[in-house]
Order: sequence, then structure tokens, then C-alpha cells
Amino acid sequence: MVNIRKANIKDSTGLAKVQVDSYRRAYAGIFPQSYLDHFTYEEEGQDWRDLLSSETEDILYVAATDTGEIVGYALGRPGPSDIPPYDSELVALHVHHSYQRQSIGKQLIAAIAKQLQQKGCTSLMLWTLEKNLVRSMYERLGGQAIGVKDWGGNEEFGIEVKEVAYGWLNIENLITATE
Ligand SMILES: CC(C)(COP(=O)(O)OP(=O)(O)OC[C@H]1O[C@@H](n2cnc3c(N)ncnc32)[C@H](O)[C@@H]1OP(=O)(O)O)[C@@H](O)C(=O)NCCC(=O)NCCS
Repeated sequence: MVNIRKANIKDSTGLAKVQVDSYRRAYAGIFPQSYLDHFTYEEEGQDWRDLLSSETEDILYVAATDTGEIVGYALGRPGPSDIPPYDSELVALHVHHSYQRQSIGKQLIAAIAKQLQQKGCTSLMLWTLEKNLVRSMYERLGGQAIGVKDWGGNEEFGIEVKEVAYGWLNIENLITATE
């Protein structure tokens, strides 16, 4: 049984573990190994502690097992996104690979979207890697392709990295699609 709840500072270590493990697994073959090796539990754990002890407007939800293990998270941000007129962004979404395909991702998206809506946001967008197979999830949830961003990463990464944006002009439609 997994519970979706707001994150607190005690979750920082668990958040970092899900994040770093997910980056290494999901982005292998998209980013070079040397880039992925830069992410460590310690550094990311400190970043989560900093975020969770700040005055940020960011919204962070975790998926936690009955024993308290963090197995997923989603980060939402209210306010104008870099693609108008979208007024909120799903900044990150990760579920540990051994807990995937159990609707945890959808529940995390729903929790973030509802919270953003409560803060007055009416729409939502997100960026995802063009090569990420989970893009189909956003399409099935009704997201419209609204932009493309080229990292121009050839010099840094030796490979081309592109992101695509998906948007929901009515955040309510996204919430309904997760049900
Ligand atoms: C994206 C992610 C969070 C989805 O988590 P999840 O808990 O498995 O998602 P759900 O079980 O709620 O799946 C919802 C729907 O998304 C689609 N989906 C999920 N994973 C998919 C995959 N790997 N390939 C294709 N479709 C997928 C399916 O339509 C699924 O519904 P179904 O199982 O009824 O067919 C998870 O795969 C993950 O952490 N991936 C690595 C990190 C990442 O790429 N994050 C997104 C960054 S933008």
C-alpha cells in the first residue's frame, strides 16, 4: 500500500535515493554515463533539504509505503511557465522502477494538479525528454504538444538532447484524466 502525501524535510534522503536511481536508470542512453555519475545521494539529499526548509511556493508530494519508504515524488510550481499562457508547471515526476505501472505516477500528478488548482492555477505544462518513452503517458492523459527545446548539448554531452513540452489549458481536464 502506497500513500500520496505532502513531503517534509525528513523525506530528503528518500527523495534523493528515488531521484538518483531514477536518473541513472531512465536516462541511461539518453545522457552520457559521465553526466549521470555526477548525481549523488548526498548532494541531491542536501538540495531537497534546502528546498523543504525554504519559503518556496513549490509543491512537493511523495509516494510512501506503509513502512515509510519513499518510492516516488512529484514537484509542481505555480506561476507563469516559459510557455504562455500556462500558469503552472509539473517540474519533476519519478517513481522507483519496482513500483511503476501501479498508477502511482497518475496519483502524484493528480495530487500536484489539485494543489496547484487550489492555489489559483488554471492550466499546467511540463517538459520531458523527446526520447523518453513515458511521453505516451502525457498524451494518454490528454496533454497537447506545445513546444520543443534543444539543449544544444552536443558540445557538453556529445549527443543531441531535445525536450518536448505538453500542456493542459484546463487543469481540470488533467485531473479528470487521472481518475
Ligand atoms: C513516468 C513515471 C513517473 C510513471 O510512473 P508510473 O507510476 O509507472 O505511472 P502509472 O502507473 O500511473 O502509469 C500511468 C500511465 O502512463 C503510461 N505509462 C507509464 N509508464 C509507461 C512506460 N514506461 N511506457 C509507456 N507508457 C507508460 C501508461 O499509459 C500508464 O497507464 P497503464 O499502466 O494503465 O497503461 C515513471 O515511469 C518514471 O519514474 N519514469 C522515469 C522518470 C521519468 O521519465 N519521469 C518523467 C519525467 S518528465
